[in-house]
Amino acid sequence: MTSRPRLGVNIDHVATVRNARGGDVPDPVRAALLAEQAGADGITAHLREDRRHISDDDIERLMAALTVPLNFEMAATDEMQKIALRHKPHAVCIVPEKREERTTEGGLEVAREENRLAHYIAPLREAGCRVSIFIAADKRQIEAAHRIGAEVIELHTGAYCDAHSEGRFDDRDRELEALREMSVFANSLGLEVHAGHGLTYDTVQPVAAFPEVMELNIGHFLIGEAIFRGLTPAIHEMQRLIEEARA
Ligand code: PXP
Repeated sequence: MTSRPRLGVNIDHVATVRNARGGDVPDPVRAALLAEQAGADGITAHLREDRRHISDDDIERLMAALTVPLNFEMAATDEMQKIALRHKPHAVCIVPEKREERTTEGGLEVAREENRLAHYIAPLREAGCRVSIFIAADKRQIEAAHRIGAEVIELHTGAYCDAHSEGRFDDRDRELEALREMSVFANSLGLEVHAGHGLTYDTVQPVAAFPEVMELNIGHFLIGEAIFRGLTPAIHEMQRLIEEARA
């Protein structure tokens, strides 16, 4: 296990701001390169079916420009599989997607779709992509992710972060304990454990402290914080907190 989890910076919401005006700025690829220079261990981008933030062209340009790995988030659709197989990013993270949601609200229902997902991810794995499945801290889903042949699971930290920001501290502690237990469980099956969604300076440390967690993917908060202190200092502070938590 590494001394600290890798930090993947999700640049989707740079594209959200760009798309609010429909032009070329701010450019998420420029943000990705800046994040890379600031020491991000990877870049995450979610190409949604409705292209509300990241575009096909952004993925094309990220693949050409990045030297750190791209974690390509996508729904398990035929269209996305074709795009992933064309680009062969370092990692593909399969997420659930509903058009009406504002963000990825829950984890993937792997157990219910085991057969289809096993067939779906096989060509991605054969193409050399590390396949990660975004799931809730739920034993049944972790077992199913393992059975379908995923190498990585990313635990959804949204319920933990929401409980914290809403002041429901008993719920927060329960969610955190579930994340801890399921990190240990997934690791015992040989799955690499990642975590993300909704993490902030206030919530990152307890998750970063789990020795099984190898990667944290953080976007919305960092891009928001960049407005006030700049992207590089925002990333450096997150890295400092992650390192401190692991130490
Ligand atoms: N990990 C996954 C799988 C996600 O879908 C997202 C949101 O796109 C994130 C991490 C990052 O979440 P946030 O933007 O809330 O930090």
